[in-house]
Amino acid sequence: MIKFPSGFLWGAATSAYQVEGNNRNSDWWQWEKDKGKERSGPACRHYQLYRKDFDLAQRLHHNAHRLSIEWSRIEPSEGRFSQKELKHYLDVILALKKRDIEPIVTLHHFTNPAWFSKMGGWLNPRAVGLYLRYCELVVSALAKHVYYWVTINEPTIYISHAYILGVWPPQEKSYLKAAIVEENLALAHMRAYNLIKKIYQGLNFSHPYVGIAQHLIDYVPHKRDFKNQLAVYLRDRLYNMGFLERVMGHNPLHKHMDFIGLNYYSRQVVDLKKSGLENLALDVLDKKRSRIQTNSLGWAVYPKGIYDLLLELKHYNLPVMITENGICTGNDAQRWKYIYSHLRYIHRAMSKGVEVIGYLYWSLLDNFEWDKGFTPRFGLIDVDYNTFKRTTRPSARKFARICQTGILH
Ligand code: FCB
Repeated sequence: MIKFPSGFLWGAATSAYQVEGNNRNSDWWQWEKDKGKERSGPACRHYQLYRKDFDLAQRLHHNAHRLSIEWSRIEPSEGRFSQKELKHYLDVILALKKRDIEPIVTLHHFTNPAWFSKMGGWLNPRAVGLYLRYCELVVSALAKHVYYWVTINEPTIYISHAYILGVWPPQEKSYLKAAIVEENLALAHMRAYNLIKKIYQGLNFSHPYVGIAQHLIDYVPHKRDFKNQLAVYLRDRLYNMGFLERVMGHNPLHKHMDFIGLNYYSRQVVDLKKSGLENLALDVLDKKRSRIQTNSLGWAVYPKGIYDLLLELKHYNLPVMITENGICTGNDAQRWKYIYSHLRYIHRAMSKGVEVIGYLYWSLLDNFEWDKGFTPRFGLIDVDYNTFKRTTRPSARKFARICQTGILH
């Protein structure tokens, strides 16, 4: 029997664009029109149905929920802020609190307002200032009810998909542009961190917990020879830890980070013979080599990876929140196995001294999986996209028992 500490955060994560529907002023909405595989349209209608969805989460004994704010709703055109949408998100937060569910709020989860993209998005020298102005408004409005903030979701995935691989808007393939965006996102995080602290201080509220949700891949060498191990090391520095270290700097007293959000899905086998851009993506050949299980998108299922990465994070001496971990599959028994095996490895890392403060499954609901559309099913809850009916999956009920008791048998 395995027991997690009391006060552990248990729940699931979503992002606004993927569940709300009709985010017409976002750059993704524009992009889908001509380039997307599928259009997000009404998505899960979570914008209307959030209370019902939170009832389901409450019944599943979740005590935490990660959500994001859609910037393009708050600021549909430059400098014009919508009080109505601000009030909407306040209602959403209050609906969680009413159900004793702790909100974990992300300020940027891949999407930008269309006007912001038109002026060059994160390449524009004004980008950081514009993001901070939006943050100031949202954080001031919600501070009373929110303790955990995530400034930016998966900066390195955003940069690689939008500026290197060119598969997400604005579909650039430029290392130079990627470097500029990286610099701006790092600045945006550090300044937002300071800003959030200042707002809470000004309001005389207790210190909030601010972090980044960073996507980490467990890089595994194909062969344990020097070349491949060096490649693994470099990849880990560049894609996993580089951004974190950049914002944390070298001053242990001012890390610009109160917790590290870890988004973990899969591993990548590094085989140096195959250098080049394709190696940035999750490795599909991997499964052929070792007959490893995969999710429905072909990502290898590799629970031990979360353990390896947690031990690596220990060195930063910060609490870690699992801000995303999940599987898209048509086989719900596989989902349960995925959750169970990852939780076992998380617990093992905790017994080795890593402070893990919560586990948020991705995702509460099936939702719009970006360029992949609606086909991948990540949800604890099935969504019928014709009727918007929700059906709780058996894996969700099994997970609920752990959320309720903190015990894994
Ligand atoms: C993560 C994203 C999230 C979702 C999952 C499957 O990289 O943060 O929005 O797409 O992958």
